[in-house]
This record gives sequence, C-alpha cells and structure tokens, in this order.
Amino acid sequence: MGYLGKTGRRTLLAALLLAAVPMQVNADAAIQRGQAAAAVCVACHQADGNGMEGASSWPRLAGLSPVYLANQIRAFKSGERESAEMKPFADMLNDQQIDDVAAYFASLPAKGPQTAPDVSADVLESGRQLALHGDWDRYIVPCISCHGPANQGVGHTFPDISGQHAGYIADQLRAWRSGTRTGDPQDLMKAIAMRMTDADIDAVSAWLSTQPPAERLSDGPVQIAVGQHEGGK
Ligand code: HEC
Ligand code: HEC
Repeated sequence: MGYLGKTGRRTLLAALLLAAVPMQVNADAAIQRGQAAAAVCVACHQADGNGMEGASSWPRLAGLSPVYLANQIRAFKSGERESAEMKPFADMLNDQQIDDVAAYFASLPAKGPQTAPDVSADVLESGRQLALHGDWDRYIVPCISCHGPANQGVGHTFPDISGQHAGYIADQLRAWRSGTRTGDPQDLMKAIAMRMTDADIDAVSAWLSTQPPAERLSDGPVQIAVGQHEGGK
C-alpha cells in the first residue's frame, strides 16, 4: 500500500472501519432478535444454550457455527432430519428467525456437560481410540480427520462434537444408521455410522462428552454475514 501515501492510507482505513461497523450492528441486531425468538427453545436447550441430559438428550447449541445451526433447523423443517420433538419448534420459525436464533445460540459461550458418563475406564479408552485413531481394519475413519484436531469443529461444515452430550451424540449416530437423519454432505456421516457397532457408538460418545468444547466461536464477536446460509449441500 506504499503508493497511497499517509493521507490515502488514513482514508482507506476510515472507509474500512465504516464498512465494518454496520456489519457488527447487523450481527448484534440479529442476536437480539434471535434471543427473543429463542424464548420457546430454552425449556429444552436451557437458558445458556448448553442443553442437558433431560427427558431426551437435549444438545448444546451454544458456540456452534451459526450456519451449521441454521442448516439443521431447515433440515428439521424439510424432514431431512426427523425429530418429533424438534419439528414443531422448527416449523414455528420463518427464514429470518432461523438465521436470528442460529446467530443468538452461536454467540453464547460453550460449556461441557455437568455430568460424567457412567462407563468404565476401558470403554472410555476405546472411545478415545476411535475418536483419535479410528479403526482402519473396519474402515472407521478417525473423527478428528474431519471434525478437527480436538474434534472442536472446522468451519461451518464440520460441527464441534467435543463436550457435546453423550446421549445426543449416540442418538445422532443411530439416527444416521437407521436413516432418520439425512442431509449430511455426501453421506459422510452415514457411511461412518453404518460401520459402527452399538458398543463403538456408546464408547466414542462417552469419551467425546468428557472433552472440552471449542471456545473459538463463542469468546469474541460472532464473525458472520447475517442472512447468509449455505444453500446447497
Ligand atoms: C421439547 C424440547 C425442545 C425444544 C422446545 C426445542 N428443541 Fe431443539 N432439539 C431438541 C431435541 C431432542 C433435539 C435433538 C433431535 C435429534 O435427535 O435429531 C434438538 C436439536 C436441535 C438442533 C440441532 C443441533 C445440532 O447440533 O445439530 C437445533 C439447531 C435446535 N434443536 C434448535 C432449536 C431451536 C432454535 C428451538 C426453539 C425455536 C428449539 N430447538 C426448541 C429438543 C427441543
Ligand atoms: C469424513 C468426514 C467425517 C468423519 C470422519 C466424521 N464425521 Fe461426523 N460429521 C461430518 C459432517 C460433514 C457432519 C455434519 C453433518 C450435517 O451437516 O448434517 C458431521 C456431524 C456429526 C455429528 C452431529 C453433530 C451435531 O451437532 O448434531 C456427530 C455427533 C458426529 N458427526 C460424530 C462423529 C464421530 C463420533 C466420528 C468418528 C467416529 C465422526 N463424526 C467422524 C463428517 C465426518
């Protein structure tokens, strides 16, 4: 930028700042609208968005990618993801409200589950093995190869599964096996879940639930383009 000179650089900086401010204001406004729309969600997902093992295993939404969350709400609406519990609540939201509640929950700090899974040290160890090393004899790819080094998620496509509730993780793997959850890009998760036994599922879910969730998305201002979501998969 040497060619701009001092005044030119200042003008450019001012223009960049001016462009950035409305984006942050938009994001804040979306989060505020989202908080209002989320009033009906907290009975299950809890006021802090971290979910709990309740009558069902209610997933943590806090700190997940806003794009991922919005995609999932749309999947409940369309029926790609079947859940008798979630469907009525997804149906209540219009397109704008989906993006708003997703921005709101994404902005909340993530916390791991309050309860430790009730399994033996051996089971936890086999879960750790699957998550970090997979089982190549059975073509089970390690979770970290897609979900990132600490299974804390990568971008908007691969969600943070570290510190998620064990019951919820297990429910999802079984849902892919039985075909009640679809819509994952290129059936990547279905392919893996199909190769896992019930014992594998329980072990990997238990171990993942003991790991810390990502702080990346929740410890600063949410960096999102409001109103944008991934259309196709
Ligand atoms: C009656 C309890 C209940 C209420 C109320 C509820 N949910 Fe859920 N939600 C669930 C359950 C159970 C699941 C897991 C469903 C499954 O197994 O696929 C879920 C899953 C989700 C997911 C998917 C999370 C992921 O990691 O993929 C999102 C997003 C979500 N809910 C958003 C919302 C929003 C937004 C509201 C309010 C408008 C809401 N939920 C209200 C029970 C509820
Ligand atoms: C080849 C890449 C890949 C591998 C390997 C992989 N995943 Fe995934 N996983 C995905 C993608 C992509 C999604 C998002 C699916 C969607 O958008 O519906 C996902 C989503 C999930 C979810 C849903 C999270 C939520 O919040 O609802 C769980 C649970 C999960 N994976 C568990 C695992 C486990 C456990 C392993 C290791 C045994 C694993 N994954 C390995 C690609 C992968």
